[in-house]
Amino acid sequence: MTESYYMTVNLIFSMFDSIFKKRVSESPKVFPNHCLSVDVHAHLLPQLDDGPADIEKSVEIIKEMYVMGYRKIILTPHVMSGYYNNAPEDILQSLHVLRSVLKRRNIAIELEAAAEYYLEEELFNLIEKREILTFGGEKKYLLFEASFITRPSYLLESAIRIKQAGYTPVLAHPERYVNLNDLEVINRLAFNGVLFQVNIGSLTGYYSKPAQDLAELLINKQLVAFLGTDCHSFAQLHSIKSAFKLNIFKDIEKLNLLNNSLLEKKKSIFA
Ligand SMILES: [Fe+2]
Repeated sequence: MTESYYMTVNLIFSMFDSIFKKRVSESPKVFPNHCLSVDVHAHLLPQLDDGPADIEKSVEIIKEMYVMGYRKIILTPHVMSGYYNNAPEDILQSLHVLRSVLKRRNIAIELEAAAEYYLEEELFNLIEKREILTFGGEKKYLLFEASFITRPSYLLESAIRIKQAGYTPVLAHPERYVNLNDLEVINRLAFNGVLFQVNIGSLTGYYSKPAQDLAELLINKQLVAFLGTDCHSFAQLHSIKSAFKLNIFKDIEKLNLLNNSLLEKKKSIFA
């Protein structure tokens, strides 16, 4: 065989390869109503929390999220002392492994890692030691959750402490806290710099009717900074897909969400 023969064969293979890659990366969106390219709350790192039990399950969910239109996912495993003692280096190591597997399988989705911190005194110890993973580069968005019956005053005090430490507090799924069902309380938190991340599934009543009502209220009042899947399993994607068909997603661009501002490639801040 001549050298030119090999060159021709290589050229044909590379043409097929680029056509295939183009098809994968430019496949039309299945849900035309929604334009979210970035998820900011997902429990998809295997074996770190109550998310996927193995890496194959993680890959299966992420592949489906790609089909749903996502191009970047911020992975946010729980950090809660005594239950989920995930240190930043464990999370980043797991991120590294998952990224490599996705790359090998040609799944063109960007992954970053942060965490969902449970609001407890240990969080402030971690802040003191700078052992915190955030997202959004210099914005240092710190995703946190609290007990579902938490007192609003405790939430406010804690958010102020987080802010004073140099982070931007992002309260995960505010619609799920029973004591936050009060616009005055919500406005006070927002006024003090708390950003709200609503779960997409809440819009379908996946969690409860009160959570659905509060999620709608927050959206109507333009108080939502981020929408997130809070995805733990493949099955949970059904409620997310149902939500994408809701009318609310037709006007999503008017909400000025920050999700897609994260598309630019920025590293997680380990500070
Ligand atoms: Fe979560």
